[in-house]
Amino acid sequence: MEKSILITGGAGFIGSHVVRRFVKKYPDYRIVNLDKLTYAGNLGNLRDIEHMPAYVFVRGDIMDGDLVERLFEQYRFDGVIHLAAESHVDRSISNPLEFIQTNIIGTFILLNAAKKAWAGQEDGKLFYHISTDEVYGSLGDTGLFTEQSPYDPRSPYSASKAGSDHLVRAFFHTYGLPVVITNCSNNYGPNQFPEKLIPLCINNIKHSKPLPVYGKGENVRDWLYVEDHAAAIDVVFHRGKAGETYNIGGNNEWKNIDLVRRLCTIMDRELGRAEGSSEKLITFVKDRAGHDLRYAIDASKIRDELGWTPSVHFDEGFAGTVGWYLQNGQWLQEVTSGDYQKYYESQYLRKT
Ligand code: NAD
Ligand code: TYD
Repeated sequence: MEKSILITGGAGFIGSHVVRRFVKKYPDYRIVNLDKLTYAGNLGNLRDIEHMPAYVFVRGDIMDGDLVERLFEQYRFDGVIHLAAESHVDRSISNPLEFIQTNIIGTFILLNAAKKAWAGQEDGKLFYHISTDEVYGSLGDTGLFTEQSPYDPRSPYSASKAGSDHLVRAFFHTYGLPVVITNCSNNYGPNQFPEKLIPLCINNIKHSKPLPVYGKGENVRDWLYVEDHAAAIDVVFHRGKAGETYNIGGNNEWKNIDLVRRLCTIMDRELGRAEGSSEKLITFVKDRAGHDLRYAIDASKIRDELGWTPSVHFDEGFAGTVGWYLQNGQWLQEVTSGDYQKYYESQYLRKT
């Protein structure tokens, strides 16, 4: 084995793209995917690579310190790519405790296990923490988040991610743990749980259900294709400098209402419906509490220092994403009905 890597949250949206990329591109690496399989974890996302010899799936909670320490002993990890998190802002508003537990305490438990396992042998090791641009708070109409932007989280989700970022840096400064952090903008692409804006609207248009646009739809997000994020993670994992932070973004800002209208146009075409019919489903609803107005990333540091830029143009990525959800109706149906959760039982419990 050239490297042994722990990826947490690998059954989720971004994690599954990262796991697939690493398993396929680096057959000499052992990839251990530790995932609790919450509602957001779906092993169906990894069906195509689950039998690859260097891939191991472990169902478990990052809060389980004994399990995490055992995995470090058993697999002698050289690196951790930490994606496991509670990730949906609306859920963090209604149930913040789980966010504090998984995102802050869970990250602490992983950091502690890495510190213990790597004590005195930190050379060549890396704890890579995946974070979000939401830690920087909300922008006005102009300006971009840089790595120097002050932290100003405003939702329980972003506050919990900010807390975990601070802990990761504290372990670097206090204990010399080699860490790196990236803060990325909104991702879109295949396998995203349909509670997030784009897959939710695709699913609702398909079933002619209302499209809930919060407030006036004026909020702005910077959208990045998920495979481009996975490529950035690959670059930072291999070439990022310990102790550094890199912002990742798509340089691709959209007002929510414009994005939803664009989606409606594509869906009308794809479904052979009359032009303008999906737009009639747009319904303005009560705004999200504390709704951040605008996120936008200055990704010049990762471009200049590590040579990463997004490669998928939005027109292509967005149309391809719509196509993926339409062609994978069964995935969408299993996720919305809850049937995807039976897959673990049928595939994994059967074998043990
Ligand atoms: P997701 O919600 O789709 O997946 C999260 C995964 O973590 C799931 O597989 C879930 O089962 C697992 N998980 C949750 N709690 C766990 C626990 N206690 N122990 C083990 N596994 C657990 O999330 P995502 O959208 O793929 O986001 C992945 C990471 O990227 C998160 O850290 C998120 O903050 C960050 N991020 C996401 C975006 C985005 O647009 N989605 C943007 C920037 C950063
Ligand atoms: P979301 O996909 O939840 O990502 P985030 O909150 O992390 O940016 O939401 C993207 C934007 O879309 C955000 O401004 C909230 C808005 N939104 C809606 O207007 N309607 C919805 O049903 C959802 C889920 C989000």
